[in-house]
Amino acid sequence: MAAIDSIRAQQILDSRGNPTVSVAVALDSGAGGWAAVPSGASTGEFEALELRDGGEDWGGKGVTAAVGNVNGAIADALRGADPADQEALDQAMIDLDGTPNKGRLGANAILGVSLAAAKAAAAQAASPLYLHLAALYSAAGGDDRGARILPVPMMNVLNGGAHADNSVDFQEFMVVPAGAESFPDCLRVGAEVFHALKRTLKHKGLSTAGGDEGGFAPDLESNRAALDYLIAAVEEAGYAPGVDVVIAMDPATSELFSDDSYELEHEQRALSSSEMADYWHELVDRFPIASIEDGMDEEDWDGWKLLTEKLAAHGTQLVGDDLFVTNPERLRRGIELGVGNSILVKVNQIGTLSETLDAIRIAHDADYTTVISHRSGETEDTTIADLAVGTGAGQIKTGAPSRSDRTAKYNRLLQIASELGDDAEFPGGSVFER
Ligand code: PGA
Ligand code: ZN
Repeated sequence: MAAIDSIRAQQILDSRGNPTVSVAVALDSGAGGWAAVPSGASTGEFEALELRDGGEDWGGKGVTAAVGNVNGAIADALRGADPADQEALDQAMIDLDGTPNKGRLGANAILGVSLAAAKAAAAQAASPLYLHLAALYSAAGGDDRGARILPVPMMNVLNGGAHADNSVDFQEFMVVPAGAESFPDCLRVGAEVFHALKRTLKHKGLSTAGGDEGGFAPDLESNRAALDYLIAAVEEAGYAPGVDVVIAMDPATSELFSDDSYELEHEQRALSSSEMADYWHELVDRFPIASIEDGMDEEDWDGWKLLTEKLAAHGTQLVGDDLFVTNPERLRRGIELGVGNSILVKVNQIGTLSETLDAIRIAHDADYTTVISHRSGETEDTTIADLAVGTGAGQIKTGAPSRSDRTAKYNRLLQIASELGDDAEFPGGSVFER
């Protein structure tokens, strides 16, 4: 058995120019693994804690304390441990932290070690990461989906909300080339639509400047106009909306909710939960929208229930992000209440790989779909691509087909697709059928 010899963290930069944690785990065999931790902007209230230094440097966003926790307490606790026993490693860090939200050591410290250890174990076994993750998933009781399903991507080509400085209330307008035959084909269609959108916006004299996830961030006259532009771009690229390409949205309404109402600032109106549900119902009737994420606030369980009932007949995928925060407990509550039918999976919301795999397993067992996701602040780390394939999640959300922090994940999936060759499966639009 190879054992952990050293764990070294350092502060690096994320895609927004903010500090984040990277971790290198070295084994006594000479094998090793490296990981970098992502960071959100529209962070859910119930996420595990991202430890930031505060103070003047880096606008308070330094992570030297989290780095210190890795190099000190965590490294001391895990030296000599078996990197292949992911659950034991993760549990040791959870115990060492001792808080319900990883608030003492920082979820950013713990996650960096958790992911880097998994990569070291994969390297030690000379196994591609997605196969190692598939083995961990099945050891944790996960359903065996064969580690050969390439995920259908939600590509965020138009950014608003907390991810852009424009006049669009909703955070993400995504194209999903669900009609494609394979992952590489799907990526090509998405990139063609992305370029067509740029031409369309330019033609109308609108800004083609970018948002945090690589999509465009034009000032538009309404939130609905964003959907019109998406449809126009799909057609301009030569595809049929609703057939070749469907739409997914993440309005991130927890960011819009205050005093029991949803404030659509740029439409100058405030909606009750029931009006918000009607709003989504109308949009789903008018546009080929296959998926809506966080259509209600993270604490508006009644609104969520209403939305789920209203859109059930449409078969719309209703994804809980801020609602579930990749947290097995919150997900179980949602399943019991019959709220949503899908979970967004973000490794840093919960802070360990083991708990992430738990959340995915619970979702699959309850027939909820799973969407593995990046954060708006990203790095060159591509773990989520392997996680999507390893667990057979079926879907991934990792931004526009633009900018290296986003394309790194798509490029990793292209690599996996070519490694799998004829064994690769691509579910296309069937991922939305439940
Ligand atoms: P975040 O946004 O990474 O800024 O939280 C992504 C999302 O809401 O899905
Ligand atoms: Zn979201």
